[in-house]
Amino acid sequence: MTNKATGPQILVLNGPNLNLLGTREPAIYGRATLAEIAKTTKTRASQLGFGVDFRQSNSESELVSWVQEARTGFVGVIVNAGAYTHTSIAILDALAALEVPVVEVHLSNIFRREAFRHHSFVSQAATGIVAGLGPKGYELAVEAIAHLARLSRPRRSARRKKTTR
Ligand code: DQA
Repeated sequence: MTNKATGPQILVLNGPNLNLLGTREPAIYGRATLAEIAKTTKTRASQLGFGVDFRQSNSESELVSWVQEARTGFVGVIVNAGAYTHTSIAILDALAALEVPVVEVHLSNIFRREAFRHHSFVSQAATGIVAGLGPKGYELAVEAIAHLARLSRPRRSARRKKTTR
């Protein structure tokens, strides 16, 4: 779960068409590229003592396999499943099998958009959701995972007491 150099790891998954950020419908998704979002996400995580493995795929099956990877070695998952948010029971099932916290992120506020975006399968397996705050949402999701990961971990002093007994 912990890489000594970078701390506990957070898996950040991005779904279809998010590789086009920067030029894709900028009025909705803004001008930041996915590489820029990866950078700010990693910076925030490192400030909080966490590492980030930041990935994107247009393939549903690859995303499912990546979610399964998070069953070991990661303290939480941040997921922007793109359009698969609204269609993929396979991604929902993979997320539901995780024991670590899951934070769902959307750059846009999906609830202010077309009705077909109002339903999210991902939400049913998510601990929480950040939507409509653009790239900042990824940093807020990192803060949420850091908070949740710390809550679920025994405090250092408590751990020490246990081992000296
Ligand atoms: C999105 C919202 C989805 O409805 C859409 O299909 C995307 C991006 C967002 O980040 O706002 O691809 O997940």
